[in-house]
Amino acid sequence: MMSGLTILTCLAFALLITTTTWPPVALAASGQPRRRSNLWRGDSIIIGGDDALVSPNGDFSCGFHRVATNAYVLAIWFTASADPHTLAWAARRDAPVNGMGSRAELLGDGSLVLQDFDGRTVWTTSTGDTGADRAQLLDTGNLVVSDAAGRTLWQSFDWPTDTLLPGQLITRRSRIVSARARGATSSGYYILYFDSFNILTIMYDGPETNLNYWPNAFKTWYENGRMAFNSTRLASLDERGRFSSSDGLRFEASDVGVGPGVTRRLTLDYDGNLRAYSLDVAGGGTWRATWAAILRPCGVHGICGRYGVCTYLLDGPACACPEGFVPADPADWSKGCRRLFDLRCGEDVRFAELPNVDYWGFDFKLLADKNSGIFNVSFETCRQICLDDCNCEGFGYKKGGNGKCYPKVALWNGRGPEPKQFMYLKVPTRVWKNLNLSSVLTLRYDGHACPKQEQNASVSNYTSRYLKDVGDSKINFVYVYSFLAGLFVVEASVIVVGSLFMFRADWATMCRVHDEGYNLVLSQFRRFTYQELSNATCDFEEELKREAPWLVYKGVLEDGRDVAVTRLAEVTPQADQVFRSEMSVIGQVNHMNLVRDTLGHKAFIAHI
Ligand SMILES: *[C@@H]1O[C@H](CO)[C@@H](O)[C@H](O)[C@H]1NC(C)=O
Ligand SMILES: *[C@@H]1O[C@H](CO)[C@@H](O)[C@H](O)[C@H]1NC(C)=O
Ligand SMILES: *[C@@H]1O[C@H](CO)[C@@H](O)[C@H](O)[C@H]1NC(C)=O
Ligand SMILES: *[C@@H]1O[C@H](CO)[C@@H](O)[C@H](O)[C@H]1NC(C)=O
Ligand SMILES: *[C@@H]1O[C@H](CO)[C@@H](O)[C@H](O)[C@H]1NC(C)=O
Repeated sequence: MMSGLTILTCLAFALLITTTTWPPVALAASGQPRRRSNLWRGDSIIIGGDDALVSPNGDFSCGFHRVATNAYVLAIWFTASADPHTLAWAARRDAPVNGMGSRAELLGDGSLVLQDFDGRTVWTTSTGDTGADRAQLLDTGNLVVSDAAGRTLWQSFDWPTDTLLPGQLITRRSRIVSARARGATSSGYYILYFDSFNILTIMYDGPETNLNYWPNAFKTWYENGRMAFNSTRLASLDERGRFSSSDGLRFEASDVGVGPGVTRRLTLDYDGNLRAYSLDVAGGGTWRATWAAILRPCGVHGICGRYGVCTYLLDGPACACPEGFVPADPADWSKGCRRLFDLRCGEDVRFAELPNVDYWGFDFKLLADKNSGIFNVSFETCRQICLDDCNCEGFGYKKGGNGKCYPKVALWNGRGPEPKQFMYLKVPTRVWKNLNLSSVLTLRYDGHACPKQEQNASVSNYTSRYLKDVGDSKINFVYVYSFLAGLFVVEASVIVVGSLFMFRADWATMCRVHDEGYNLVLSQFRRFTYQELSNATCDFEEELKREAPWLVYKGVLEDGRDVAVTRLAEVTPQADQVFRSEMSVIGQVNHMNLVRDTLGHKAFIAHI
């Protein structure tokens, strides 16, 4: 039995050698591409030609996918998809291999490796010496390395790229990262993951900023229909189109219930939206969107980049630059606009008005009366605040509003039209004339309507790089984005929910804030360090209350406000659970300020 198998394997191997080294045309001419779903030890998938694994049901293929003239990634794709760029998975998506001589091989030691043209191993499943003896492409689209007993030692489902297939789990470790552009394979700026509150979140993690924007970062978990206390952190789409997540998120695709038999995927698209799709095989292999996380694309963070303004034209969303700014890269709006001038500290500036536009976030000051929570800042005062601060790039002010002033250190997330919301941009007096600016700026679309829709993968850059590199026969494959570094920053950051204490006396004001869609920025969230709380409570001197697992201390903040600081007496799994529940409740009640020491060892809640 075993020797029969070996002979078969050898036969297959011989066949493989023959068909790939001898005229590749023979393969196509015969019209009989080899169809196999397994790689045994010593087997390879060879680049060039049609060599691929095909799942037993034929739905998925695994082989080399061309991303540019001479650059390929090892990928899994949907056999029946009309668009060849729709991938279910890719290995090492940011560093393709050369189109000549690269191969994927299940080595004799059981690891599945990817070798570049020069024989260098550039990627491995690290399943060497684990008894692994096969790699199989399953009907689910999962590429599995397993041993003779059928134990899974590695699976592509554990290493998602931008797509989740039915049955594939989003876990606490998953990072689903969008592609950089339409049809591109490389990593973009959007990430779907479970955040440290156990909420399934989409984050924009760009070169200059990052921010969670889905679910709505300015609403509580409860308002968003999520639960923060279930630390299971699991989510998946089933084959009938139902999605469920441990944070309470549930949704159904518009063709729910149809299937199995329908090929579905959930993809974090290059434009930052999360969408479910079904493959319309009868319709020629097109994909129908059956659900989307964000219905208004301008709600996606960073969609038009820095200074860019997102608006809806008749044929969809579009990005524009205000006068005095030009697109940084007309082919890539996520790079936003470039200022045609520089701002120097201390020079004479004027403010140019940009009507009915709002840039969300990055307010450096919240101007409400501390005691009453009422805004009543005059336009002149607001202007002066921005003028006095060299870092202020402009401010937002609502005409006919209740005197709300939003001075900004950065202009991102521009949207319009926002009725009555006016932005005032700082422009040096010296350039005013040269740029022919009037006191009211207009938005310039510059013929780039719907650029976001038009943004395709830039293949030319890959090409030139790869052609050149091969000539040098010295390849320096650089990862385009080491997004993991960015993720670390986020993991280590905000555990603060509150900030709304500034409004505590005026719930109505806060509701209006939400109604208007105007939201306080994350930069306004106050995070206290352990040291600050220690100082505020004189080293946790005066204990007010003891209620396991909490200890409550009296404290006074630097600005004189009285607070009660709640401290977790000890960190145990139970206490952690209570802490999470408490955070969930706070998320719902939203009138407390929650803090945690920077090392994350202990948790504090300041009731203000
Ligand atoms: C937490 O999520 C898991 C997975 O979705 C679910 O099975 C479990 O019932 C949830 N627990 C609670 C308390 O809701
Ligand atoms: C805001 O301030 C102006 C001038 O200081 C005053 O006339 C007006 O009554 C104030 N409005 C509110 C709502 O406090
Ligand atoms: C400003 O206007 C003048 C004359 O109308 C024109 O020559 C110049 O190119 C304009 N400058 C810019 C930056 O548009
Ligand atoms: C982008 O790709 C689409 C579909 O492949 C094509 O119709 C469109 O013309 C391309 N746009 C640009 C700017 O290349
Ligand atoms: C891509 O190539 C174009 C033209 O060769 C060049 O202008 C552009 O700067 C390149 N982009 C990057 C990111 O290298």
